[in-house]
Amino acid sequence: MNQSTAREILVTSALPYANGPIHLGHLLGYIQADIWVAFQKLCGVTCHYICADDAHGTAIMLKATELGITPEQLIAQVQTEHLKDFTEFDVRFDCYHSTHSEENKLLSEQFYQRNLTAGYIKSQMITQLFDEAKQLFLADRYVKGQCPRCKATDQYGDNCEVCGATYSATELLNPISTLSGQPPILKASEQLFFDLPQFQEALSNWLQSGSLQPEIANKLREWFASGLKPWDISREAPYFGFKIPGYDHKYFYVWLDAPIGYLASFKKLCAQRSDLDFDHYWQPHSSTEIYHFIGKDIVSFHGLFWPALLLGADYRWPTALNVHGFITINGQKMSKSRGTFITARSYLNYLNPAYLRYYFAAKLTPKVDDFDLNFDDFTARVNADLVGKWINIASRCAKFINQFFDHQLSPNNAAPELLQMCQNAQTSIAEAYQQRDFSRAIREIMALADQTNQYIDQEKPWILMKQTDEAARVQDICTVGLNSFRLLTLYLKPVLPSLATEIETFLNIAPLQWVDSKTLLFNHKINLFQPLLQRIDAKQIQQLMDPAS
Ligand code: 2FM
Ligand code: ZN
Repeated sequence: MNQSTAREILVTSALPYANGPIHLGHLLGYIQADIWVAFQKLCGVTCHYICADDAHGTAIMLKATELGITPEQLIAQVQTEHLKDFTEFDVRFDCYHSTHSEENKLLSEQFYQRNLTAGYIKSQMITQLFDEAKQLFLADRYVKGQCPRCKATDQYGDNCEVCGATYSATELLNPISTLSGQPPILKASEQLFFDLPQFQEALSNWLQSGSLQPEIANKLREWFASGLKPWDISREAPYFGFKIPGYDHKYFYVWLDAPIGYLASFKKLCAQRSDLDFDHYWQPHSSTEIYHFIGKDIVSFHGLFWPALLLGADYRWPTALNVHGFITINGQKMSKSRGTFITARSYLNYLNPAYLRYYFAAKLTPKVDDFDLNFDDFTARVNADLVGKWINIASRCAKFINQFFDHQLSPNNAAPELLQMCQNAQTSIAEAYQQRDFSRAIREIMALADQTNQYIDQEKPWILMKQTDEAARVQDICTVGLNSFRLLTLYLKPVLPSLATEIETFLNIAPLQWVDSKTLLFNHKINLFQPLLQRIDAKQIQQLMDPAS
């Protein structure tokens, strides 16, 4: 590839709220993006992976109050916990920042000013529900009442779970504030609106740009068809966020400054790295690529408001949104009462993070389908594939090389066809990673592991070793096995980076890069094989699901 066509990529993952722990549902998205980024980096592509804590909003303010600490203290604590979880799951951001940062404040003000100057921000008097006891305007989720359509009780302020009606909170019958338990009053105030309807034509082009998975483009077209509405980007004090310039009591709505946090995080990275230029990535018509990995619940923000805000502030559009579905656990929505709300931390108490990364990869496709984490299937897949197929190759072959051949691989290639097949597979596996079809990549890798195990089964080195004149042949066979193992490790490296590092030490080789699929390893001294991965014991799963057991 020559210089002018070298890819430069920026990848973002959805910013987790700074008021709760990372859970398995979050991890699906982060691990998906991390694998994709790791693959790019392995190929030598310039790729930066950024994220941040989403630190603003009413929920964070109320949580801090409940804990008797300041929002700043809360978000600092949570950020430390989030980062610890990400690190232990091998999710490796190039920069992890916070939306409550100086960079984000300046950028949010800039987005606001540019959109204001361009005529995309309007003010309007509106009437909202106000909790007099708490002196707060109530967001939809803090008010409950009767559905105006079917009259079902105990429904939230935006939609009815019984009949599916959507409405505004002021339409609820007999509303009650969930914060004070008191009926709210109606109160008028001036609010600022981002005038989305002015972007009708631009957004229609965006929907056809090929930047969206077909099912996402369809969903967005539905919203589009039902009419774009101005979007309220202001919130009244008290609020935890950034003050809107020119107003004393108004703050930017958390969803305004959250995606701008992507730019803020990248800005921080650029300040740390002299080779990185912020404008080069974000200016209109930039040749760089920007991908947002997100869950399907936040598609409207990223698929409508975000491109419009970017355009209004004279920034480029993302290259694509890569949207994933929701996670279910054993076929059910994650739920605290069923014990299936599993946090990253509780998982780590019982299970190796590599298992989860592998299981996610083994089932992830580029589609938006929901993802079922079925723990029986999880156990069977990990034990059969990782331990029974892949690691098994190394443990079968290394013991002979370590014990009888002074750790030395043979100079001969005794199975050129098998190894050629393993090497050739890199093209198709790379394509699968590139397209985010990780499940196909894993299928192909495991098929190669099967072929390699069959080869060892046929050659039976354990029998040959007992025959005095066949020792050299055993060294040849095990050298083939370990060469295949090295290639499979390279192919799995985006998914299992820590294990790959341990294996590089065992094989006594430099960190594997994708181009290393072109070479093989002969006449080379390896290190002593150490057990790399344990099988999952059903008891571990039991304990995770029911820590009291
Ligand atoms: O839904 C959420 O968890 C949000 N905190 C995601 C924000 S993503 C980005 F826009 F900032
Ligand atoms: Zn209803």
